Parts: sequence; C-alpha cells; structure tokens
Amino acid sequence: MASERDVRARLRLAGQEHLLRFWDELAPGPRAALLAQLAELDPVALREHCQRAAAACARPPGPCPELAARLRPLPPERVGSMSHGDPEARQRWEEEGLRQIALNKVAVLLLAGGQGTRLGVDYPKGMYRVGLPSQKTLYQLQAERIRRVQQLAGERHGVCCTVPWYVMTSEFTLGPTATFFREHDFFQLDPSNVVLFEQRMLPAVSFEGQAILERKDKVALAPDGNGGLYRALADHQVLEDMQHRGVDFVHVYCVDNILVRLADPVFLGFCVLQGADCGAKVVEKTDPQEPVGVVCQVDGVPQVVEYSEISPETASLRASDGSLLYNAGNICNHFFTRGFLQTVAKWLTLMAWPGPPPREFEPLLQPHVAVKKVPHVDEQGALVKPLKPNGIKMEKFVFDVFPFASNLVAFQVQREEEFSPLKNADGAASDSPSSARRALLAQHYRWAVRAGARFLDAQGTPLPAQPCLPPNEDPPAICEISPLVSYAGEGLDVYLRGRTLRSPLILDETRARELLLAQDP
Ligand code: UTP
Repeated sequence: MASERDVRARLRLAGQEHLLRFWDELAPGPRAALLAQLAELDPVALREHCQRAAAACARPPGPCPELAARLRPLPPERVGSMSHGDPEARQRWEEEGLRQIALNKVAVLLLAGGQGTRLGVDYPKGMYRVGLPSQKTLYQLQAERIRRVQQLAGERHGVCCTVPWYVMTSEFTLGPTATFFREHDFFQLDPSNVVLFEQRMLPAVSFEGQAILERKDKVALAPDGNGGLYRALADHQVLEDMQHRGVDFVHVYCVDNILVRLADPVFLGFCVLQGADCGAKVVEKTDPQEPVGVVCQVDGVPQVVEYSEISPETASLRASDGSLLYNAGNICNHFFTRGFLQTVAKWLTLMAWPGPPPREFEPLLQPHVAVKKVPHVDEQGALVKPLKPNGIKMEKFVFDVFPFASNLVAFQVQREEEFSPLKNADGAASDSPSSARRALLAQHYRWAVRAGARFLDAQGTPLPAQPCLPPNEDPPAICEISPLVSYAGEGLDVYLRGRTLRSPLILDETRARELLLAQDP
C-alpha cells in the first residue's frame, strides 16, 4: 500500500493537498481507506481534471455566436420517420428488426449509473414505481418488454431467441440493482442473459478547482456521465461478451423513459437497412426553446448540439413546410453496431487519460459540466448538505461519439408513443412521476380504444371513447396493459374488440386469458 508520504507528494503535484487536512484526526481504519482511495488517483490526471472543471465552469454559459453559420439539419435521406414514412417501408423495417432479433444478433444496453439527484430518492431510478395500478417498477416494465419482443421475433421466425440485457451501473447503483434483480428473480429472464457492469467515478470539484471531501476520510466521487459507457465497455470486456454471443447490434437507452421500446424492431430494422453504424431516435421539438439537444450537423459532421449552445434565433428558424429547421430532439435512445463500439473502445484504451488526448480524439473526451449539490465537510469537519449547487461534476455523454460515425441516421418517432422521461419529483411542471404515469396510461387507453374496447366507471356508467387524447390530459378510463400482452399496441383486438370493461382494468396475461375464454361459446 502507498505510504502517507508518497500520497502527500502526489497530492502536492496535483495541487490537492487539502484532501489530507483531517489526517491527524483520523483513526487507523479511516486513514487506510483514505490512503487507498487517494493512491488510485493519478496526480497529473487529477490536476488536469480539477483545472479543466474549474475552467469549464468559469466559461460564460450561452450560445456559441459562430455556431449558426456552421449548423445544418441532417440531410433528409438520413432521417426515417415512424409517422411520416410510408407504411410499407415501416413494415419492411419491422420485419428486418424482428429477423435480426430472431437471429440473436440484437442486445439492449441500459444506462443506469446516474444518481437521479433531481428525483431525490436514495435508490436507483429503475427501482422507482410511478404509481401504476400494477405497481410495476421501471426495471420490471423494461424486462417485460424484452420478454415480449423476444416472443414476437421468435413466433415470427419459429425460433427461440434471446435479447441479452446489459446494464451499466455505477458505485451508487450496482449493489442495489443486483439485489433487486435477484429478489425479483430477474423478472423471469435467464440471469445468464442479464449482464451488470460498472462505470468509473471521477472526483467532484469545487468552483475553485479543488476536489471535494465528502467525509474527513473520503473524496466525493461521481459517475463519469453516461458517456462513461465506452470506457466501461472496455474495462469489463463487455464487447467481447457480445461477440461471444454473436451480437452485432446494440440498442442503448436511458433508465428513465417509461415508454422506451427496448430493441424496437422498427428502429433497428431502419438502422440496419440503412447500413448505419450509429442511430438516434428523435422526437419533434415542442417549441424552439425546449431544452433538449438537437441531432444535426456542424461543418457537415453529425452530432448532438445542446440547446444552450444554439441561439434563440437559430432555434426558431423554420423549414419551408413550417416545421422547426432544428427539430430533431435527442431522446437518448441509440443504435450502435458492435463494430463501431469496438472501434471507440479501442481508441480509448490506446490513450492515456485524462492526460492531453491526441487532437482527433478531443471531442470524445471533452467533458460536459454539470453543476450539482455535493454533500461535503466544512473546514471544521462538520457534514454539510448544501441547499444550492456547490460543486462541479464532469460528465461525458453517450452521444459524444456521434462525430466518429461513418453513417449516422436519425429516426423520428411520436413523442406520446415513445418518450416520457422521469427526471423530477412530483410537484415539478414536467417529467415527474405523475407525468410518466399519465403518459403510459394514456397510451394504453388509446391502444385499448383503438382495439375496440369501451369502458364503464365504477358505477357502470359508460365513459367516453377518445382514441385521440389531448396531450397531458388524464385518459377517461384507467387501463394498464402488461408488456407481456402487448409491446406496442399489437394483438389487442382478440381480447378487446367489442368488449365493455370496467375501469380500472389491468390487462395482464391472466386477464387476457380470461377474456379469450369468455369469448368462446
Ligand atoms: P441524467 O442526465 O438524467 O442523470 O441521466 P440522472 O443521474 O439520472 O439524474 P440527475 O441529473 O442526477 O437528476 C440520463 C441517463 O443516463 C444515465 C442515467 O442513469 C439515465 O439513464 N447515467 C447518467 C449514467 O448511466 N451514468 C451517469 O454517470 C450519468
């Protein structure tokens, strides 16, 4: 183990000697723990990390003035659409996606290393229940969608197939997620097809460029952003595991979108038939100032440009059909070929990091600044839970690799069908447990009504049938459909056509069977 003297010298080099300021007060156990943690930090890397964080935070926020002239939308031939495309093309994409799934060539990869500070729970967000009638968690909904899409592809091609589930976690989420999966019997997935791995952590830094002490004997660390994926893939030989299983295509998604379609055959098929190495699902922006990144080109290179970098004038530009010119809102729902991920992981392992990278890799490593509340100890060693942001977490984003793609495509989907993220606690204006629950129940109500169901309230009074609901409005009846019964609204007619059902309805496999039996003479 490194000695106190060694570690002190390394910290001096890094300009971070304050991390040992409570040394004299510490008992042997905490001393050893602190030394072990500090010994892992490379002094040059630590110095650069802290300097870079403070410098990035000091840069005035706001749009890049010279960006407007360099910005272009993606060319139309690179953009597919769920709603505007012709139905035959959509069917072709879906067929191709199901074929690839049936061939065991598709995996899903969940980004679940975030701390969910805005939601404010002390467990992983995937374990959150938004208050559905079934009480399902986000993890359970996702597992069931995997099971259903395997079944759909298997039935179509007369095979038994597997979509492995890779779950990137962090120091905060690995333990509880692993326990939760075990306690729930992996939601009936084969545990050998569920692979948990852990991303790296980075020190949180004060606005003055000093690494923060969370306790007298512990440096505050935060996960390195969802773009930490690429290094984590290399750290844990995840791509080798994929290769071993024959996986060629990976659907990467965020934990918090309650409507996410795992291994969506239509999106996969579109990307595969386009010969894409990278793909991004996008939704039309609701208004020019909506705070989402935009998939577009800068100097002809496809990438995601953050909303804060685009001026209000540029964000408001309109195309000839009246739609926003930059309207491809990124929803962190991506397609990658394994080959592309392998190339990125290889570059990363070739580089010393976070020392100065070769120029061509800079965008890959350019961290983004997140200003957050970081619990810490004050000068006297008392614990402080800050009420306003006091620290900088440096994060990489999963889309930072887009500029390296040789053929990036975007695929536009309908927001009400595919995107409702859970970011904030209830009481917030948007992206809360209530809005996520409403989005899912509204979708299931629409599917049921389109399949021919009618609903009664608890007193038996008929409720209106509204196949098109205004956004953000509660549906007239409560209907929750298990992903094991329907993945995207398909196959519901056999249970629901001509039926009048009492709200609330939970259409799970048992209820679906009962409805089928009740129809037989
Ligand atoms: P967010 O940027 O919304 O962050 O993550 P978050 O941690 O969930 O929530 P806040 O900002 O603290 O409130 C988007 C997705 O990226 C994952 C999250 O788990 C989520 O699926 N993520 C984020 C990681 O996997 N690792 C990270 O380091 C950060």
